[in-house]
Amino acid sequence: MAPPTTTPARSQSPFAAEVATLSAAVVAEWSSEAVAAMLEIPSDPERGDYALPCFPLARERRLAPPKIAAEIADQLKAKVAGSEWLEGVEAAGGYVNFRVKGARFAQYVVGDILARGDDCGRSDAGTGQTIVIDYSSPNIAKMFHVGHLRSTLVGAALIRVFGHLGHPTVGVNHIGDWGTQFGKLLVAWDLWGESDRLESHPVEYLYELYVRFHKEAKARPDLEERARDAFRLLETGDPEARKLWQRFRDCSLEEFGRIYSTLGVEFDSFAGESFYEDKMQPVLDRLAQRGLSTTSRDALIVDLSDLDWPPMMLRKQDEATLYATRDLAAAIYRHETYGFHKLLYVVGQAQELHFNQLFEVLRRLGYDWADDCEHVMFGWVKFKDQHLSSREGNVVLLDEVLNRAVEMVDSIIAEKNADLEDRARVARTVGVGAVIFADLATRRIRDVNFDWDEVLSFDHGSGPYVMYTHARLTRIVQKYGRPVSTAVDYERLTDPAERAVVQQLEQFGRQLQTVAERREPSYLCSYLVDLTSTVNGDVQRGAKDPSLRILADDPDVAAVRVALVAATRQVLKVGLDLLGMGAPERM
Ligand code: ARG
Repeated sequence: MAPPTTTPARSQSPFAAEVATLSAAVVAEWSSEAVAAMLEIPSDPERGDYALPCFPLARERRLAPPKIAAEIADQLKAKVAGSEWLEGVEAAGGYVNFRVKGARFAQYVVGDILARGDDCGRSDAGTGQTIVIDYSSPNIAKMFHVGHLRSTLVGAALIRVFGHLGHPTVGVNHIGDWGTQFGKLLVAWDLWGESDRLESHPVEYLYELYVRFHKEAKARPDLEERARDAFRLLETGDPEARKLWQRFRDCSLEEFGRIYSTLGVEFDSFAGESFYEDKMQPVLDRLAQRGLSTTSRDALIVDLSDLDWPPMMLRKQDEATLYATRDLAAAIYRHETYGFHKLLYVVGQAQELHFNQLFEVLRRLGYDWADDCEHVMFGWVKFKDQHLSSREGNVVLLDEVLNRAVEMVDSIIAEKNADLEDRARVARTVGVGAVIFADLATRRIRDVNFDWDEVLSFDHGSGPYVMYTHARLTRIVQKYGRPVSTAVDYERLTDPAERAVVQQLEQFGRQLQTVAERREPSYLCSYLVDLTSTVNGDVQRGAKDPSLRILADDPDVAAVRVALVAATRQVLKVGLDLLGMGAPERM
């Protein structure tokens, strides 16, 4: 198999570009773009700064990878010796390893980050490619559960990362504010409604009404019938029913709004399911014209049995339209309104079939952009905690989760740093940040187990640890007391661990691209954790060995080390901001 020739070169540095150009010049099968796409970073910095795997080429030439690697390294020796950017090349196993000119590399990487500040890692690669993300999307009268929390956090992180990469973005909250459950709520309200409870805790109270309805309906089947009638009234625009529905919606949105502001999340649109009420008929017509819809047992469906899939339900016996019908209308509306490059749905894996059906039906309707729609799914979220009030199923009150995190962090700070100024605010940022990080750090598709001891640990690998490292580096720069300069002597960064930090910093922009391409914020989490361990290693060794202290006695050494620390701090800050965590300067 030939190396891919269409993958764009991903590294932004002239160093990687040089590796690509030189290698392509000696291997006929490789283009420089292909090499750039293949480049890896050796995990052991002693081996080099870039590694080029020769395995695919070896398969193609039917030779042993080490033999090919040795040959290529040999051919490259003279070229590398004359290079402005590279210092050495060597074969190791099936790889060709390159070493860059360390001082130039550090100057390039550190200089760039400090010059760009909060814009570091930013690019304009996404210009003109609008990304619409449908995320959070809780339901009125059902609880905002931990699955919605995960959707909110993943969606918001993706929006920020895509935006940082230059994409116009649109965040849509597809609120579940329509459907037969509103008929049930209207009936329940009629029977048992209490205004003051609705005003004080709308989401919880509406859910309670909904649960009570189901319980009582078991003994009184007439309730179901009444609920269907009530929903029909709502659908036909009965003013009383509409008014009540509006009231339920308004006070629920207000409460969701409090959660979003705690999490620092904003949406561009709250067009929920009800928004599509008058936009479904054209879709149903188009389906009928194309002969895609059929009636089966009084329900209107799209038959998908040729794929061995269950049918997509468009309308039930009682004429009420469904979730799926509204999603068809929503996708079409979004395409017309935003002309998206990609439409991402950040929704749990339980809805995999729904989205497969949705995209398939859009395809059959003749929309070629159906292939630009994607279900960005995620696994289950489980809370293991006796301290939180247990409710039915997987429902945990989010406020309770967040408040508890904040309280626990506050008590940790009280123990370690009682005089911290602004303690309440810091505790809030760190507590909420800990929950965000614990959620985002798990690969999307894996289940998240919230274990409080883990969420709120300050140990290596946790969110608070990344935040703490940021604060620690900030303090070192402040202690330095002079302005940070990038015009420093980079030859003085001689320690391999310092080189490793530079190398990781250079990866930042590329890492953000991977996060966007894979729709996987966890890659940013692991990047930040890796960076903190390398840099903390440096700081700790400095505490033991005075010659490695950041604020060294030799002013030239101190200056260059501080520049590196400041660049690292900057990348941590941008990374934390993109995850939605915030980066307190002290904690
Ligand atoms: N409201 C749905 C739920 O809570 C999620 C909606 C996701 N978005 C969509 N367009 N279907 O399960």
